[in-house]
Amino acid sequence: MTYGDKQKQVSTTASEKNIHTDFTNNMTYGEYLQLEKILSSQARLSGHHDEMLFIIIHQISELWMKLILHEMTAAIQSIKQGDMQTSFKQLARVSKIQSQIIQSWDVLSTMTPSEYMEFRDSLGQASGFQSFQYRLIEFALGYKTPHVLKIYEKDAELHQTLVEAFHAPGLYDVAIQALAKAGLTIHPDVLARDYSVPYEPDQTVKSAWLEVYRNVETYWELYQLAEKLVDIEDWLQQWRFRHMKTVERIIGFKMGTGGSSGVNYLKKVLDQRFFPELWDIRTEL
Ligand code: HEM
Repeated sequence: MTYGDKQKQVSTTASEKNIHTDFTNNMTYGEYLQLEKILSSQARLSGHHDEMLFIIIHQISELWMKLILHEMTAAIQSIKQGDMQTSFKQLARVSKIQSQIIQSWDVLSTMTPSEYMEFRDSLGQASGFQSFQYRLIEFALGYKTPHVLKIYEKDAELHQTLVEAFHAPGLYDVAIQALAKAGLTIHPDVLARDYSVPYEPDQTVKSAWLEVYRNVETYWELYQLAEKLVDIEDWLQQWRFRHMKTVERIIGFKMGTGGSSGVNYLKKVLDQRFFPELWDIRTEL
């Protein structure tokens, strides 16, 4: 392209005649997205420069969590209805969001311990530990810890949502039901289990997944489903690991604002698994 052509292109863009500028009776981009609400929700309690980064990283993470829950809830329904192809699309989106959310640790790590200590006291006892969306994600993945139910007793509507999710079947429960529907033998106690109890590994589930991985062509959809679940657990563990290392980098081994031992607590949760048999079978394949 010559210099003259480039100039012509620039002036064509500048002379766009149909750009909308009169919004007296029409909704703008900002109104549609309710940006006034979102962009006025970054109240720095300390007034410290770096508190803006801290607030925005948390808010962005919570927004992504909202979308993860939206997709996961839909995926659970799709699997229940036997619509595996739709669930694959929804679960693939969850993994992509997870890969995105994990990048935020790089941004947060630009904050030094000295900068964080300037405003840490302003947080009081507030901590990500109380993130109800994070717990809803854990519930959807079958990991049921009741402490968040107590934290949100003061908000009746939210408390009810959490209680319902606590008792509902998770992603892995519907995947196991899909194994049974495909004719694979699953112990009846697993199919009728109390969903409010964290999932415990089961031999019949392990044998069923082994069968799927050894007969990929026969069980192609279940095989794909299994790999999508492994993707999600893998990403979640990576998120947990990066969180733990970022916390160590910023506060060392201090106690958390939520009251836990801090890094040692975060190391312990790394051992918790969501889909144990899908990891165990890898040794035997
Ligand atoms: C300076 C940055 C951060 C520090 C120092 C930090 C520190 C901690 C600590 C020490 C805990 C353990 C509970 C406690 O005693 O408070 C925790 C839990 C948690 N944090 Fe953070 N965090 C940071 C950033 C974030 C961000 C950006 C998110 C994103 C939402 C987040 C989400 C969580 C969640 C979900 C938990 C609960 C984990 C679990 O129970 O498995 N944290 N954090």
